[in-house]
Amino acid sequence: MKYPLMRNNILREDLDAVIEHLKQDDPILTHGQNVRDFEAEWSAWLGVKHSVFVNSGASANLLTMAILKVRYPEGGEVIVPPLAWISDIASVLQNGFTPVFVDIDPRTLGMDPKRICAAITDRTRAVFLTHVQGFDALDDALLTELQQRRVPLIEDVCESHGATHQGRKLGGFGWISNFSFYYAHHMSTIEGGMVCTNDQEVYQQVRMLRSHGMVREANDPAVLAAYRSTYPELNPDFIFAFPAYNTRNTEIGGILGRSQLRRLDRNVKRRTDNLLRFMKQLDASKYRTDFKVEGSSNYAFNLILKRPDKVLVERVMKVMREAGVEFRRGSAGGGNQIRQPYLKGVVPKDHHLGFPETEHIHFYGFYIGNYPDLRDEEIDELCQILNSA
Ligand SMILES: Cc1ncc(COP(=O)(O)O)c(C=O)c1O
Repeated sequence: MKYPLMRNNILREDLDAVIEHLKQDDPILTHGQNVRDFEAEWSAWLGVKHSVFVNSGASANLLTMAILKVRYPEGGEVIVPPLAWISDIASVLQNGFTPVFVDIDPRTLGMDPKRICAAITDRTRAVFLTHVQGFDALDDALLTELQQRRVPLIEDVCESHGATHQGRKLGGFGWISNFSFYYAHHMSTIEGGMVCTNDQEVYQQVRMLRSHGMVREANDPAVLAAYRSTYPELNPDFIFAFPAYNTRNTEIGGILGRSQLRRLDRNVKRRTDNLLRFMKQLDASKYRTDFKVEGSSNYAFNLILKRPDKVLVERVMKVMREAGVEFRRGSAGGGNQIRQPYLKGVVPKDHHLGFPETEHIHFYGFYIGNYPDLRDEEIDELCQILNSA
């Protein structure tokens, strides 16, 4: 494949850092100091107080919705996008909440802020907003309204590391935010994810939820003391506060994350330059070029037909296949989630048709790879290929 979705995301220097660790006598391989250091460095980079490293972005979503369930055991509604990854919606269902879908804004591919506000009811427990493929889906009026109506914002930033809103990094606005370090994203720990928050209580609970619900995983002495004095008959090292999961990562992930974080900002800049070069040359009569690029950080080039055109879409796929351009139709996550079998019986029949912006992406949208070592000539060639369709 001449233009794969991702290239060289784990470099020799990352592997060398792992090898250095392995050369020690009896190195710690499970969760240890490198995990803790990565969490601290990530929090400093993002500008939040606490981060918890887990084994995937999906696990970050799962633990976040598990926290919401701790707050609202009776359930309720969570506002979600139809253009996201399955785990954004699966985690809502797995924790007994009802997903309420809101169509996207074509300029950000994230949920339309006005539609979010219109969907809020007295059963809304959170807005679970995904920043899709590097675009900033926040809006000041939305932030103000959520604050006024006391609806927590949860940000899924799994596809948008380093993107900003008003100069501040995404993932620092929500009550809780989630990141993924899967190979295809901005940086990789092979598999991995992060749950971030400024809320000390959430932080303690996520630490427990990550490790079987075990109280000894909390690092606040007051939390430990409270459980131990309430349950004196239990072994203090084996008190299980929640029916939880094991979603821990390892030292290998921690080492890779620390090594990768050092070049993340540089890579974000490079990808943004690539995106601007790509957008400038793309034929605006065929493809959308009016995205909200300010503050964006894209590991993907979004290729979205301007109009629904069944003939052109086939031609675009043909030229990409012939030229060795890897692509995902419907954008990254399988297009309109509401069409997926796991939602049959959960949403009314034909519900997907009520989301025309997402439907357009489902049939006429593609994602292709944007990585730091993509050369200018390659971007120019890509545009020529795409414009020739
Ligand atoms: C928006 C979003 N959320 C969550 C995930 C899940 O992350 P992971 O693949 O690390 O489980 C992804 C994955 O691609 C994603 O794009």
